[in-house]
Amino acid sequence: MPNNNQKPLDKPSTNQEIREVTIIAARSKNHVIGRGDEIPWRVKGEQKLFKELTMGGCMIMGRKTFESIGRPLPGRDTIIVTRNAAFRHEGCECVNDIPTALKLAQTKRVPIHFVGGGEIYRQAFDLNIADVLHITTIQTEVEGDVYFPQIPENDFSVVDEKRYLSNIDYLYERYERVRD
Ligand SMILES: NC(=O)c1ccc[n+]([C@@H]2O[C@H](COP(=O)([O-])OP(=O)(O)OC[C@H]3O[C@@H](n4cnc5c(N)ncnc54)[C@H](OP(=O)(O)O)[C@@H]3O)[C@@H](O)[C@H]2O)c1
Repeated sequence: MPNNNQKPLDKPSTNQEIREVTIIAARSKNHVIGRGDEIPWRVKGEQKLFKELTMGGCMIMGRKTFESIGRPLPGRDTIIVTRNAAFRHEGCECVNDIPTALKLAQTKRVPIHFVGGGEIYRQAFDLNIADVLHITTIQTEVEGDVYFPQIPENDFSVVDEKRYLSNIDYLYERYERVRD
């Protein structure tokens, strides 16, 4: 379960755009995000949304998610989190824990996006890192073995949503952290 009492990790002290740290995920209605190393759906338009949300920013991802993509995505920085100190991939930066990933991302002065997978999302919630969640819910139930964590509803509220019609319809929701 996420530990929501944890103090958020340090954020950069420049403007609001640079401060923004997001979690971006697409999940099914039963909260599946992956099956093995794959995303268990093909939904027209949904990847375009991911591209728009991440373009120009810095993506932090787990090693398994990186290997399922297989290459750095153009127009964005990629930081791979792995416990393997020897892991390298051209065009990416590799670090061995999440706080180091966040510190490295902050030096780039661009929006920071945690893009999965399940292990990384869980820890990002536990560490109370994100200001904004971009959650796409694919309007179907699928079988899988990697799940998106329960969103801590006391910490985030939906501020925007948009419904998309496609081969499988999907719902985009933007959540923002509730400030006291
Ligand atoms: N639907 C979506 O939006 C979405 C997005 C992304 C991914 N996915 C899916 O999610 C699945 C992958 O998720 P996953 O949970 O299996 O793996 P993951 O989170 O992508 O990667 C896990 C790996 O990250 C590294 N790691 C995790 N925590 C770490 C820490 N605290 N310090 C250092 N390294 C750490 C470890 O790498 P090492 O083993 O190398 O040490 C670990 O094995 C795939 O099915 C993928 O397709 C879905």
